[in-house]
Amino acid sequence: MCGIIGYIGNTSPIDILLNGLKHLEYRGYDSAGIALGNLNRLMVIKAAGKLANLQQEISQSSLLSSPNRGIGHIRWATHGKGNAVNAHPHTSLNGNLAIVHNGIIENYKDLKAELINQGYVFQSETDTEVIAHLIGFYLQQGSNLHQATRQACSRLHGAYALGVISQAEPHKLIAVRHHAPLILGQSRSGNYIASDIPALIGQADSTLSLEDDELAELSENNISVFAADDTICHKTFKPLTMSADSIDKLGYRHYMLKEIHEQGNITRQLLHKRLPSAEAEVNLPDINISSSRLQAIRQIEIIACGTSLHAAEVGKYLIEELTGISTQVMAASEYLCRRSLSSEHTLCIGVSQSGETADTISAIRKAKEHNAHILILTNRPDSSITRYADSLLPLEAGIEVSVAATKSYTAQLVAFYLLSLYLAEHLHSVDAAQLSALKQELLQIPTQIETILQNDQEIKACAQQFNHSRNFIYMSRGINVATAQEGALKLKEISYINAGAYPAGELKHGPIALLDETLPVVSILIPGGSGYAKLLSNNEEAKARKAPLIAITSSQDKELNKLFNHVITVPQVSELLSPLTTNIPLQLLAYYIADSLGRDVDQPRNLAKSVTVE
Ligand code: M6R
Repeated sequence: MCGIIGYIGNTSPIDILLNGLKHLEYRGYDSAGIALGNLNRLMVIKAAGKLANLQQEISQSSLLSSPNRGIGHIRWATHGKGNAVNAHPHTSLNGNLAIVHNGIIENYKDLKAELINQGYVFQSETDTEVIAHLIGFYLQQGSNLHQATRQACSRLHGAYALGVISQAEPHKLIAVRHHAPLILGQSRSGNYIASDIPALIGQADSTLSLEDDELAELSENNISVFAADDTICHKTFKPLTMSADSIDKLGYRHYMLKEIHEQGNITRQLLHKRLPSAEAEVNLPDINISSSRLQAIRQIEIIACGTSLHAAEVGKYLIEELTGISTQVMAASEYLCRRSLSSEHTLCIGVSQSGETADTISAIRKAKEHNAHILILTNRPDSSITRYADSLLPLEAGIEVSVAATKSYTAQLVAFYLLSLYLAEHLHSVDAAQLSALKQELLQIPTQIETILQNDQEIKACAQQFNHSRNFIYMSRGINVATAQEGALKLKEISYINAGAYPAGELKHGPIALLDETLPVVSILIPGGSGYAKLLSNNEEAKARKAPLIAITSSQDKELNKLFNHVITVPQVSELLSPLTTNIPLQLLAYYIADSLGRDVDQPRNLAKSVTVE
């Protein structure tokens, strides 16, 4: 969603801010802006649209001489349109203070009315502008910048990460957070703030995640962090080891394609670390549930959104299959709308690539209030959601830049395989021979993923044939219904083609009415799996209604070529493990269709990488 970068030091901030914003672009945005300050004054430059527009504005402006600090922002509109006026930074009434903000101020209407009554004039439709005026107000009352920011924050309800600069204190950059991430960075040439690590790659040498309600004062050569009660905190910065390669396309046409192609390696590394051999026990060192608590677990709940929700559906299937414990999957936003039945006998698993999804965080907070043991599966172990974690399962997929989740989904699936094996081992719910056979097969998956990636001709041909279809149906039975849902989501997100996903048995209960020669049906069929024969019959029914048919299958049966227009084969694998392979062609199908239509694959319209509003 929105992104923040800030810098104070002995180098000109402009390139630092623009570089930082460039590395945050993947989060999705519709306008951008920067504020620069020197010892005498501040200036703000903003533009609607992409960073190139901001760069053009900057090149046409007569810039401040020798700026020592600056803040920058990319905005994804929530309150008011994505135009230059609503873009951040926002300024105080006298223009002597500028702020950037991520998050949402829930009581901004009341605060705005109060400030208007006192004669304040608002330029924008945003919730953020009230913060600028409030800090400005407290500065005028005689507070220093630190105190004024604290006083303003005490009036705010909602979520915020703020960067603040003011002419009142030209050697200071203030940062504060509440329910929104903010990172501090250090280097020899100065100090930084950012909403996410990529903004600091290649710029800072070490970083530190600010905790909720901590406030940091940055100067050119020092950073002081204050706890919520304003006592000084002694913090240790960690070296920033992520290389520029992790946010480089490395010759691929899009980040999405690069990330799809990383999946063999990512799964191999994750498995190597957690399950070095089929004889080994699954090693999940950050799972902290005691044996007695585990034995007392009566239900498992999995909470997530979007693609993570589809991984959760696969996870439910695996956990129930391997442990027999009843498992429910809930969209985080829905968990928030209903009575929670979580208790101390519940293991609640939160799944979030970013760890910053507002719905998932709120739902997990609610489950924690009901005493559930909280296990978090995330790609960002430093993210906000981990504050509620009793146990952690890091995905270790590396930074995912493309808005469409691909490698993180596959890593989530691997994490669920590891977790269900771990639970089965500790609960003794599956015999040793069966566990070892499953582990053996799991360890083959990385190579199988690579085989699929090397043989994508049929997928490309299929994409070429159907890229002008306006609707698709995806279907399967059993564990791959989730794969069908994820395949359909991927297509919708990046190509803007409508796609519905169904358990294949549901087709005849309604969706069959849609079928004709313009509606391709994509099926995932694993021979020997539950419902293979029935899935073939469902496809016969679709063919009788002239629907073009596409199969994703591990079957070698040549007869399938008579029924299906395209047969995309994946290596042979048991049904239980097949979501790890069948999903890969669906990612590629969505990618090649979207690319052939000229879509902005990595930054699809209206979407943001992490959705930090409920
Ligand atoms: O970071 P999270 O896993 O919590 O994100 C959840 C969804 O917002 C995310 O999966 C979204 O659906 C992606 N655009 C999927 O490609």
